[in-house]
Amino acid sequence: MITAHSVPQIAHTMSAAVDPATTTSAASGRRGVVRALSVAPMMARTDRHFRYFMRRMTKHTLLYTEMVTMGAVIHGDRDKLLGFHPDEHPIALQLGGDNPEMMAQCARIAEDWGYDEVNINVGCPSDRVQNGNFGACLMAQPERVRDCVAAMRAEVSIPVTVKHRIGIDDIDQYEDMARFVDIVRQADSDRFSVHARKAWLQGLSPKENRNIPPLRYDEVHRLKREFPDEVIEINGGIKTIEATNAHLEHVDAVMIGRAAYENPYLFATADRDVFGDGDADIPDRFEVVEAMIPYVERYYAQGWTQTSLVRHLLPLFHGLPGTRIWKRTLSTKHTSLTPGQVLQLGIDEVRERLSRRAS
Ligand SMILES: Cc1cc2nc3c(=O)[nH]c(=O)nc-3n(C[C@H](O)[C@H](O)[C@H](O)COP(=O)(O)O)c2cc1C
Repeated sequence: MITAHSVPQIAHTMSAAVDPATTTSAASGRRGVVRALSVAPMMARTDRHFRYFMRRMTKHTLLYTEMVTMGAVIHGDRDKLLGFHPDEHPIALQLGGDNPEMMAQCARIAEDWGYDEVNINVGCPSDRVQNGNFGACLMAQPERVRDCVAAMRAEVSIPVTVKHRIGIDDIDQYEDMARFVDIVRQADSDRFSVHARKAWLQGLSPKENRNIPPLRYDEVHRLKREFPDEVIEINGGIKTIEATNAHLEHVDAVMIGRAAYENPYLFATADRDVFGDGDADIPDRFEVVEAMIPYVERYYAQGWTQTSLVRHLLPLFHGLPGTRIWKRTLSTKHTSLTPGQVLQLGIDEVRERLSRRAS
């Protein structure tokens, strides 16, 4: 079924200036457009090559960077940390930090680099992040998050958004999350993206904190009901377009993390089936690979390694006959081949495998 998602409280004014598969938020003071679907920020995953790859399958989905700390943005190698290809739009930079002035400076840098949104990480529970007083521990400091949002919003005109958890440690009741949102929204945060489980700051690793605390979708749906003017995005354990559309009956947007990485082709139908874009092209997997070949050749010539350029494509044939030969071809060291030639060899092998199965 082809559906353009209609969510209560969001005006469906199509702006000629923006892509037609988005809606403009009716909520006063909100910036930007509401995108029904995003790929979550993931360290060591959502780098520029992954994002370009995802763009071969979906034009409308919002893509996030990996988290970059405010210190790195200010003092680090910006070409390396912030560089992206123009095709990656719409793209959001996720920041880790807690200092309003520095976060505002980072937001300015992000806007100057052409990012479409800047997002604050209030969800990561790692020790390193806690030691820097950012990530999930900021759930206990909503005034500080509000002050960051306010300083950033005063500095830039792109949306400033927050990604957070349901709660942390013993600050984990629905009312605690509602209080967090109620305080942060004083600064007109443009979206709240909620990973629908709490985090334990001590005793669980970041990985365990993504799996062990139970998902509490109802509380995110309730947040939208009780804060109808806020743009609310749900995240955590969502793996299919059908599940995405079911959540969109309750919230404004859905964010998918691991399933995007483990089964990227899932996004090939997102433009049509989530964003309601009837003209969307749905490339097959071979076309996706072919579209990547000139890109990987170009970046290889600029010094990127073969592994960094092809690794994100490994799960493209997820669940299909041919996936093993595809992965094996891409993982083998081919010293005499360029990454584009490796991808070509990979699809030739898969095609041959499929035709042998068919005959
Ligand atoms: C490898 C990995 C790295 C992650 N890095 C980040 C990050 O940099 N910033 C962030 O806010 N969340 C990060 N997350 C959490 C995801 O954005 C997301 O909230 C979480 O995986 C739950 O969504 P999912 O069940 O759809 O994967 C990461 C998750 C994974 C698996």
